[in-house]
This record gives sequence, structure tokens and C-alpha cells, in this order.
Amino acid sequence: MDTLKHHHVFRTLVARLAAATHLPPEQVEAQLRPPPKADMGDYAFPCFELAKAEKKAPPEVAKALAERLIRDPEISQVTRRIEAAGPFLNIQAEPGVLCAAILHQIVEAKEKFGHGTEGAGRTIVIDYSAPNFAKPFHVGHLMSTILGASLVRIFRALGYRVEGVNHLGDWGTQCGFQFLAWRRADPKEREEQLAKRGLEYLVELYVSINAPGKALNDLRRLLTDKEIAADPSRLKEVEAKIEKLKPEVDAIDNEARALFKKLEDGDAELKALWQRMRDTTLQVLQKSYDRLGIVFESDSGEAFYTPMLPKLIEDLKKRGILVQDEGCWVIPMSEPGAKKKALPVIVVKSDGTTKYETRDLAAAIYRKEHYEFAQNIYVVDMRQKQHFDNLFKALEKCGYGWAKDCHHVWFGLMQGKDGDQVQVMATRGGSMIPLKDLLDRMVGIVRMIVREKNPELKPEQQEIVAEAVGVGAIVFWVQSRRRTSDIVFDWKLATSPDGDTGPYVQYTHARACSILRKHEGEVSPFADLKVLEAPAEVAVCKHLDRFGEVIRQAAKDYEPSLIASWLIETARAFNDFYNQHQVLKADTGAQRDARLVLVDATRRVLAEGLRLIGVSAPQEM
Ligand code: ARG
Repeated sequence: MDTLKHHHVFRTLVARLAAATHLPPEQVEAQLRPPPKADMGDYAFPCFELAKAEKKAPPEVAKALAERLIRDPEISQVTRRIEAAGPFLNIQAEPGVLCAAILHQIVEAKEKFGHGTEGAGRTIVIDYSAPNFAKPFHVGHLMSTILGASLVRIFRALGYRVEGVNHLGDWGTQCGFQFLAWRRADPKEREEQLAKRGLEYLVELYVSINAPGKALNDLRRLLTDKEIAADPSRLKEVEAKIEKLKPEVDAIDNEARALFKKLEDGDAELKALWQRMRDTTLQVLQKSYDRLGIVFESDSGEAFYTPMLPKLIEDLKKRGILVQDEGCWVIPMSEPGAKKKALPVIVVKSDGTTKYETRDLAAAIYRKEHYEFAQNIYVVDMRQKQHFDNLFKALEKCGYGWAKDCHHVWFGLMQGKDGDQVQVMATRGGSMIPLKDLLDRMVGIVRMIVREKNPELKPEQQEIVAEAVGVGAIVFWVQSRRRTSDIVFDWKLATSPDGDTGPYVQYTHARACSILRKHEGEVSPFADLKVLEAPAEVAVCKHLDRFGEVIRQAAKDYEPSLIASWLIETARAFNDFYNQHQVLKADTGAQRDARLVLVDATRRVLAEGLRLIGVSAPQEM
């Protein structure tokens, strides 16, 4: 149910049109849209269906309807011009009345303007961020974190209960390798590193203990190199190196696997170490999440679901959904009669261990039981399309009708400006720059700009602005294009105060705040808003009016970028207005008071739009 509250002008038009046409109001409401060009008016009403009912030509019907409406006293109070244009009825609202109707709504609803209650009583689970504890936090995680957090806020604005889940990759043989490396590290040093660097240190432990294994793999690959294979002496050399390295690698492997097995079997000491590593890593990560304004309702990751697996597997075997295939237990994915054979989903590997897929099956089922979700959304990059496709099909095969309520909200990966692969955006010695460093780097760039451009700002305020603009620039950039499109990150452009950027919207918001600050008094609640008749004033109001619709479309398409584009357009309209009209020095007191209400409403709605997509709105910049 759409709970978008329409303003008085629109409601009047719908009611009178419905009365004149005998069409149901809902139908009129759905069809009364802005015309393709602004000079045609504010609303257009297509007369096709009416013409069908009356068995007449649409232009004829449009003309008769226009004549009828012009004589309607209620309509004439809210419109300036109604005319038939072919099969359409074009309606121009009375500008001042329209502005007043829109601004009154904002004054009344305040930061709830555009929000809704259609989600009341329904729960949406949003799985986002979800880094792994053995691999770097990469650009896909960054984007998932930003997009996921926006979707959380957007759905909440529509009244849904939202459960944000950080599905951590915190389980698997990697834990054994990390324990082993931890044991070999200096006790004092390792504590410091873990507390300071968190995830980054866990990844480092994993990489370092795996270094001999990686070297061995590299050597083995040399064996298949044609040149080397043709040269007996070099071949021998490589073989000797392999022989020498093998025992060490085997030893590490065995020891690490044994440690993981011990953890799985419930060893208290290892369990405590695992818990400590996990807690500390999350604490460090949370500092970056804090800067992005993110709190998760749950951080249950892969480890959380492992205890549920034996029962699940047993059950699926009993029901014949799991079948044996080359030593593994799988869910077949091929449809009978299909031309292309689809690979089955492996649920239990031949060595008896489970997989990422297995844990995702359990997680989805758990979430349905635990949250009774209306939707279960996974914000994960496009490389996992196949995985989620399989997951949802597998759930369907398990007989879960709610599989259709699970959605993979995928996105393309952001690249560095030089066009190279994703990682380039944040490479440091071959690995990714941690999230914290990425944010710090951007804030550092902005700090220099702020100091240079705004030296009179107090140092504390400079710092607040640098943090807000630096973080905001990244967060906005990620959402400035459709999530499915390729996006190139540009450190310089992202901070530009006059591009299609977060800082541009932030500056516009701060400008509105500064006008209100200079005014020094209250914004008068009694201002006569009907004096707002200039095209630039009407344009701002009409942009503000679209906010609720944009939020709903963003939720429907899982597309926060719609809010970002709307913010840019609205900020532009506001700046046009500001360049054309004086506010504090307006010709008349009535104009000044009305424009102040417009400025105040714009500031409010811009701030809320920014908040929804995770960008802060400092009052002063
Ligand atoms: N940890 C995974 C990765 O980094 C993402 C997890 C996404 N969520 C899920 N339920 N599979 O690739």
C-alpha cells in the first residue's frame, strides 16, 4: 500500500477529476503525472480510458473535460490554466498555491516529510558488508557496506522493521592457519597488532603462514612451463626445491587443519582465542562503521550457522533433496530436459566438510524462522550472481515458497581512475588499503582544501567539515550511478564542490543554513507562502515535492542512486533560485518571510535525503 501523502492541490485535482469523469480516484491518482516538458504545465491527465468508456475520440473527450473543469470553482482556486493538448489534459497549478501546499506539508511533517508507513508490521533482512577474516576488505565490501546501509535507512523511512546483518566470513580452515601463525608470533607484538589493525592483521597472519604453501604452488606451476620442462638441469633444480619445501608445507598444513578440527570439536582454549580474534577485529572494524554511521542488528556470520548444519544435512538427505555425486552430497540444479546442464550445488564435500553455500542455506532458513521476513536481501557484488541464483533455486527445491522473497541486490565494481582492475583503487604493496586508511586518505585531501579555502573556520570545525566531506565524498560517489553500472573512482572529482558530488549537495545545504543563520530570527510560521510565484521558486518546491516518490522508487528498485540524483537536481534548483532572488534583502517583507520558509524547507529535506544515503550534512563549511 502506498502511503504517500499528497498535498492539497494534488488531492483537489484528483477529487474533482474523479467526480467529473466518474473514474475511481485511485485510477485518476495513478494517471495524473507531470507532463514530459515543464512548460506544458505541472500535471497531465491522459484521456484514453475515458474516451474508450464514452466511445469517443480522446482529443474530443479531453476538450470537453477541460471546458467542464474550468467552470469548477474548487479547481479554479488551485489552477491557473487547464487545456486540452491532443488526447491529454494539461494542467498548470496556481504557482503560489502549489508552493504553499508543498511547503505546508514540509513544515508540518518536518524530517518525516516523504516518509511512509506502508512497511509497518513487515520485516526486511539486509545482509551487507560481510567481510572475510582471511581476505582483505575489498572494494566490493566497501560498496556493499555503503549501499546496504542506505537500503536499511530507506526501508526504515517507509516503516519497515529492518534487520541489518553483517554475515561475517569468520569460519573455515583459515582459522587453523591463523591460530598457527598466532602461536608463532611474538606474544606482545601480536596483541598490539590485533588491537590496532584488526582484520588487516588477521589477513596478514593468514598470508604469512601460507607463504611457503604459495611458494610451493608457484614452483609446481613451473613444472608445466614448456621452457623449463625442456631443460633437464633447470627441471631438476625446480624439483629439488619442491622436495626441500614440501615437508615444511605439509607440516604447516597438517598442523593448521588439526587446529581447525580441534576448534570445530569445541576445544575451549581455541574457542576463546577465536572469540577474541573475532571480537577485536569487529571492534576495530566498528570504528570505520561508526564513521559511516553504521550499526548492525546482528553480526552472526558463517560460524553462527555451523552448529545447524548436521541436522539440516540429515534432513535434506532423508527427503531425497541431497543426492550423492562423485563422493559429494549435492542438490542437482539441472532441469529435466534442459539443453545446458547446470552444475549441482555442492552441500557436503567429499572429505565431509561443508561449504560457504551450505552455511548460506542454513542462514536463509534461520532468518525466515527467526525474523519472519517479508524480504531477505543480499547486497553482494556481481561476482556472486551464480552463487545466489543457485542458493535461491536450492531453497525452492527444498520446498520453501519464500525463496521468491530472497533477492540478490548485486552491483558492479568500482575501478581506479587509471582503468585498471578494482584493486588499483586502493593498492598498497599488492594488498588493499584497509577501510580506515581509505577514509583517512580522503579526509586528508579534504582537510587541506578546507584549511586553504576556509582559514577563518575554527580548527575543531575544520576537522568536523573535513571528516564529513571526506567520508561523504566517497559515500556519495559510490551511489552516484546506478548500482549495476561500472563506476570509476576519481579522488579529485569526488570532492569537487561544483560537480555532481556529495560535497556539492553538502555545500548547498550549508548555504541554506547560513542564510537562516544570518537571518537571526525565527522563520515566521505565518508567512504567506502564496507570494512564491517565480519559476525558480516553484521549481524548488516541485523538486522537494518529489522526495517521497523518490524514496519509494529507490526502495522498489533497491537503488539509492535515485536519491543521490534527486539530491543533485534539487540542489541545482535551489542554487538557481538563490542566484536569481534575494532572500534576506527581498523587495518586500512578505517575500522575505516566504522565501525563508522555502530555504528552511530545502535545508531540512536536503539533510534528510543526505542522511538516507549515509552522508552527513554539516551546517557550516
Ligand atoms: N563474505 C562474503 C565475501 O566476502 C560475502 C558474504 C555475503 N553474504 C552471504 N550471505 N553470502 O565474499
